[in-house]
This record gives sequence, structure tokens and C-alpha cells, in this order.
Amino acid sequence: ACRHRGMSVCRADVGNAKSFLCSFHGWTYDSAGNLISAPNLESGYHGQLDKSQWGLVAVPRVETYKGLIFGCFAPEAPSLLDYLGEMAWYLDCLLDRREGGTEIIGGVHKMRTRGNWKLAAEQFAGDNYHAIMTHVSVRDAWADPQAGRAPAGFSKAMTLPGRQFSSRQGHGMAGFLLKSSGVPSFSGDPSISEDQGIVADYYKATRNEVANRLGAERADGPADGAGLVFPNFAFLSGVLGSSTIAVFQPRGPHQFDHWRWGIMDKAAPKAVKEAMVRCLHVWPIGVADADDGENWGGIQASLGGPMAQSLKFNYQMGMGTEGPDSVYPGTGVPNMLGEFPQRRFYRRWL
Ligand code: FES
Ligand code: FE
Repeated sequence: ACRHRGMSVCRADVGNAKSFLCSFHGWTYDSAGNLISAPNLESGYHGQLDKSQWGLVAVPRVETYKGLIFGCFAPEAPSLLDYLGEMAWYLDCLLDRREGGTEIIGGVHKMRTRGNWKLAAEQFAGDNYHAIMTHVSVRDAWADPQAGRAPAGFSKAMTLPGRQFSSRQGHGMAGFLLKSSGVPSFSGDPSISEDQGIVADYYKATRNEVANRLGAERADGPADGAGLVFPNFAFLSGVLGSSTIAVFQPRGPHQFDHWRWGIMDKAAPKAVKEAMVRCLHVWPIGVADADDGENWGGIQASLGGPMAQSLKFNYQMGMGTEGPDSVYPGTGVPNMLGEFPQRRFYRRWL
């Protein structure tokens, strides 16, 4: 924010610049954040503006993990690796599958969503349960009785082998575990669409390479699902042909900005990347984010009343099923459905 009146001095999503010119009164900062010029220094400020005191405020902690940049305003915060803890092991399933890491494809998708940011955060931390009802239309939209494709839904899928993970930091995740095909459960149903078939073939072809790199237990998908790095960074990995990352930025208690990017292996062939982009425009950006947003907004509306505010809500699913696992780090639940990560998320938030 500009130190004169607070206007944002960088309004571009991508690119680079040698300096940043504020569009309000024209104060200009260099790429290190120093104030280097302001209009009418003599006739307006009579030479009394001490530019050295009015540079942009630095984010005191900036660290990267496998291509992602995290900033933190708390100088005493733990190191990023300590903070991510066991979650880093799972994040690698998305970020470190192949040499060269990942790249963002297709720009940023921005949605201003009604609802408190925690509704989105708790959902990504572990709420697979909602997909059965909320997203019933997504898989059915691909159904084509004439081609012999029945509506698929998510109900059965949620009984497939899977795992939830949660950490004391409030991170959470729920993903499918696959035997050894290397294909995420929903990233490769050629009967659903040709693009998903292309993506499925890619996962199959790279499975052994990923297993050599990360080990079989990670090649076979513990993070193929949704996850949250507390408080507001989320991912959706290997679902219906796409992988995405997202950030939820609160805009007061009643709405938030929901930003989402497609992410994929840099080393993937162009045709696979293009198929993944077409998949992500259906899921999650085209349909699923709107499905979720409709529910978050409806919750926010009902929570505005005094009656709803006095109620307790039910977070009991899977209580007592959590525990350590011999293969997967952290505390987990040995299936896809449960509310353990959501309970942990709110405990950390409290
Ligand atoms: Fe930036 Fe005035 S707000 S120059
Ligand atoms: Fe959803």
C-alpha cells in the first residue's frame, strides 16, 4: 500500500517492473520499495518530505516451498518448513512429482464470494462429505445415456480407500489412496470425457517416475483430493482431470475473495496441459466453485440471525477414529469421510 494514502501500487497479476507508480498522486517506489520520487517536492512539500522515511513496508518473513511463495507479517513466526510440518510431505504429491516442479497455467480466476472465509477453509481441510450432495450435478453433467454413461455422483466414490490427515497447526487434507495404478480416482475416467482420458494416460505413464522420486506410498495418491494449509491456502489435486491451488482472502466477516490457479507438472507434454486446462474450466472453476459458493452464501445469510447464532452445529463425524498410521505421517483418519481435520482447524483458529 502506498504510504501517502494507502492506494495499492501494484495492480497487475503477473509481470515485473523496475518501479511502481501510484495511480493516485504519483508517488513512485523502486523494486526494493524505496520511495524514489513524488510530484512537486519543492512547490508542495517545500523540500521537507524525507523520502527515506516513507518507503513501502516490507513483509518481514518471505520463504518459498517448491515454487510457492509464502509471506508472513509476524517476525517471530516459525520457519516455513517447521510451520508446514508433516503437510510438506503431502504437498510434495502435488508440487514435486517430476523434475522441474510445477507451473501455473491459465492465469488467476477471481471470485468474490458471499460467506465467511472459514467456511471455505474448513471445507478444504477435510469436508469431502459435501461433494456427495453439493456437487451431484458435476459428474452427472458428463452423463450421456446414449453413449452408455450413467450419472456417476460421488456417493460411492467416498467409500473408496482414502485417508484424512490433520496436524496441530490446523492443516488438513483428505485424499484417495490407490492401489498402484498411479491414476487419481477422478482424474482419469475416459468414459467421462476425452480430456480426462488424456490426463489419465499421463498419470499412468508417469507413475513409476513419481514412485522412484517420492516412493510408492506417495505416488499412489494420499493427496489426491482437497487440502488446506492453515489458514487460507488450499489445493485440489488430481480431481476430474485438473489440479488447482487457491487462496481465500477475507473481505470482512461476510465475504471473501476466492482466487484459484491451475497447476501442473512443468514437464507435462503440451497436449496434456491443454487437456487439463479444459478439465479445470469444468471442475472446479466452471461448476464446483459456484456450487460451494451458493452454500457458503446461504450459511452466511442464516447465521446473520440471532436464533442461528445461538445454535451448536454438528461436527461429530468420525470422532474417535483418528490416530497415527505406519505409512502416512501425522494424525489421520483411515477413510475419506470425517470431520477430524475440521475440528482441528477450529481448535487452531480459537
Ligand atoms: Fe499514493 Fe497518494 S495515495 S500517491
Ligand atoms: Fe466443493
